[in-house]
Amino acid sequence: MKKGFPDNFLFGGAIAGSQADGAYNEGGRGMDTQDMRYFDPNWDAETRSSEGLKMTTEKFKKAMADPDTTHYPFRRGIDFYHTYPDDLALMQEMGMRLFRTSICWSRIFPNGDDEEPNEEGIQYYIDLFTECHKRGMKVFATIQHYSIPAHLVLKYHGWRSRETVKFFERYVDVLFHRLGGLVDYWLPFNEFNGGIMMPYNGVGLIEDYEDNYQQAIYQSMHHELVANAIAVKKAHEIIPGVPVGGMLAGLVTYPATCRPADVMKAIQDTQQEDFFITDVMARGAYPGYIKRYFEEKGIKIEKEPGDDELLKNNTVDFLSYSYYMSMVSATDPNWQKTDGNLLMGSKNPYLESSDWGWQIDPEGLRISLNVMYDRYGLPLFIAENGIGAHDVLSEDGKVHDSYRIEYMSKHLEQMREAINDGVELLGYTAWGIIDIVSCSGMEMSKRYGVIYVDLDDAGNGSGKRIKKDSFEWYRKCIASNGEDLSY
Ligand code: BG6
Repeated sequence: MKKGFPDNFLFGGAIAGSQADGAYNEGGRGMDTQDMRYFDPNWDAETRSSEGLKMTTEKFKKAMADPDTTHYPFRRGIDFYHTYPDDLALMQEMGMRLFRTSICWSRIFPNGDDEEPNEEGIQYYIDLFTECHKRGMKVFATIQHYSIPAHLVLKYHGWRSRETVKFFERYVDVLFHRLGGLVDYWLPFNEFNGGIMMPYNGVGLIEDYEDNYQQAIYQSMHHELVANAIAVKKAHEIIPGVPVGGMLAGLVTYPATCRPADVMKAIQDTQQEDFFITDVMARGAYPGYIKRYFEEKGIKIEKEPGDDELLKNNTVDFLSYSYYMSMVSATDPNWQKTDGNLLMGSKNPYLESSDWGWQIDPEGLRISLNVMYDRYGLPLFIAENGIGAHDVLSEDGKVHDSYRIEYMSKHLEQMREAINDGVELLGYTAWGIIDIVSCSGMEMSKRYGVIYVDLDDAGNGSGKRIKKDSFEWYRKCIASNGEDLSY
């Protein structure tokens, strides 16, 4: 048996359109949910994390009428919309084999419910994806990465409305027909469980706009699951052979102790936050534990006739997840807390944390790969992984990010272990391969890239791209097909 990464392993990098593109009012694009998120560069760290994900109807309406870009970082991103040829050239220099980005729905359908698509938007993606292929990179395209046309939020309550499923169907139909030949892997939804943990980002709901928020969240999740199955069905009909996948924010959850109550809590947290979604997407039906949960919480999912068959007959071809950290489930309410991706969590005394309190756990990646592969037997992708850090541009004009190299090396080593355990892992797209606006805190100063972008939290700076030390490290790693992980 050959040990280690297979020859065709897809070493890549990922970004999201909303965090990188900018050009929010160019090319016929409509406004979307991320354009509405207000940020003040003078906020302290605590306010950034508390305000960052809060949305109200008043804030939303005010933002819609506000042409400012200083306080809306997603409107400017890193200007990738204009700089992509040069940025992709740098990725090519690293030898990247796969590029993951997301398509902006409101670039294709500016309001979401338009009858006809925006040709300029389609052309942009034809050009972008053609450029990737010219530079030797396959394309992994996310169809909805936390960006939903703003008009759908106020008129239809985002994904709460069944109408939104129809609009999404029209959207994917256009994508598969017009971009089908340029995309190698499709992902209808980024981090599906984000819909439960961050409903504004995931399903376009504003809490004070809903009478029954919890009910609206799970009804929206059902609509997205139906839309996901429709996307799988359509892709299989229009572009047969091109894989369509599902994605979670991968939260490995350990029991805080070996007390059975903690173990059961870890199982239930994982079921309710992660597995019920992948069970529907990959096994084709809602599992018993989530039906019980819905019943106990008084949540009633309204289904249309045919939904169950649709879910059953259109399961995904692969599964992917983002992996930054692991979590702990504790029944003890006084257990120490820490921050994390999408959620506050309980602290693991055996792990170190990033500057943002995310618990670094390379072995957890091997654990999760084994668990996911055992459970579903489907090929897997690590669609996001990386460390958000306060990088410093040194006097020598370089960024010496040894902590990022160590983080990447240790995580890749665990992926290699998992492959040797028999897991079928297709690829790895390092998150924020080039610095972009942070999703949670909306700041530039939380950087993930191996390419530095000279912009600060207020959007000031030259925008110049600078290779960090990790750039050369990742280039070497890819050139050796993951054999050389030394640092
Ligand atoms: C994932 C998202 O949850 O985490 C990305 O899919 C996001 O959009 C990434 O950027 C890292 O999170 P953050 O908040 O540090 O940018």
